Amino acid sequence: MRDKGLSRKAVLAALKKFLEQDRGYADGKILCSMCTSPHSIARTAHRWFLNPNLGDAGLFPGSLKLEKEAVQRLAALLNGENSVGFIVSGGTEANLLALWAARNMACACNPEVVLPESAHFSFKKICNLLGLKPVYASLDSAYRVKPSSVEKCITRNTVAIVGTAGTTELGTVDPIDKLSAIAVTHGVYLHVDAAFGGLIIPFLNDMGYEAKEFDFRLEGVKSITVDPHKMGMTPIPAGGILFRDSAVLDYIKTETPYLTEKWQYTFAGTRSGASAAAAWAVFEHLGREGFKKIVRRCMRLTKFLSSRLEALGFTLVVQPQLNIVAFKAADTKQLVEKLRQHGWLVSYIPRLDCIRIVIMPHIRKRHLAAFLKDLSHIAQADASSLKP
Ligand SMILES: Cc1ncc(COP(=O)(O)O)c(C=O)c1O
Repeated sequence: MRDKGLSRKAVLAALKKFLEQDRGYADGKILCSMCTSPHSIARTAHRWFLNPNLGDAGLFPGSLKLEKEAVQRLAALLNGENSVGFIVSGGTEANLLALWAARNMACACNPEVVLPESAHFSFKKICNLLGLKPVYASLDSAYRVKPSSVEKCITRNTVAIVGTAGTTELGTVDPIDKLSAIAVTHGVYLHVDAAFGGLIIPFLNDMGYEAKEFDFRLEGVKSITVDPHKMGMTPIPAGGILFRDSAVLDYIKTETPYLTEKWQYTFAGTRSGASAAAAWAVFEHLGREGFKKIVRRCMRLTKFLSSRLEALGFTLVVQPQLNIVAFKAADTKQLVEKLRQHGWLVSYIPRLDCIRIVIMPHIRKRHLAAFLKDLSHIAQADASSLKP
């Protein structure tokens, strides 16, 4: 650290230089992220609640109420009548809390967790931290976990099954209804990772898309991850964990020796009230109608992009279920590089050798039209290696 501090003006000027090196969402060229530009009301709420620490919530009763209300809004959306939960640092911490509870509830000597092959990589970290052995269940031709494979993976050491409602790579939704039935039959904890899909799927049926149940209406579902900092359009960090009921909390509680509340249930100790305030503000401001509007636009743009890609001769990995489009070229890796040279940031998924595009709320039709124009120019210039 320097001996004598710089002036405020000098510090801000230096900060600006760092910020200028970062990509922004406004030009629509970030097509690979599940985060987005925060909603304006979330920005304001976030700024107002910079002081409160939910890790010492007795000092900040207003923020604690806000967190409870934000969790209640998510619970109502996911039909969790008696649900409790927390606004945490993201999907990784939310998944961690779920499997921590599941492991402690089960008391198995050599605990295992059954994961779809498509599960988010956060589960690898979590298994390592919690001493869980991951056992992978295979996928069907539509990249959804096969219930028969899940059932075969269950042993007396299984402490949990995980299903994903909106996979990170393809946006597919596992058959959670079937996983729930398996969980009930075998008396195993079922966690649903809806970090991405949890704020999309509940709105789809009303707009004519087919979406199966994946939430607490299903008896076996014991917890759900749903992240405000993805489709909830809040600033990072804001993850959400919901448990079916408060009984689970006993398995993840830690007594605090000196704070204003006796127990802590999250992995993070000090937690910003700003995350909860921003989530609450977006939920209250948009309501279901506002979310539907945003989801409808994302889904329409998804259809626009996927049908144009097919018309250009590219192969879709699957027909999109949510707002994620994945497609292949003859040399997909090379195409990713060429798109990057044109400023387009798409994900390359090695496991599937495909490009993956996430249509987040900051994406507009004009961005996709410009992307398709560049893509077809690239494909025309190098037809032999890029056309599928
Ligand atoms: C399905 C799913 N689960 C978990 C996560 C991890 O979330 P985070 O990066 O907020 O920890 C992601 C991130 O993209 C995700 O898509």
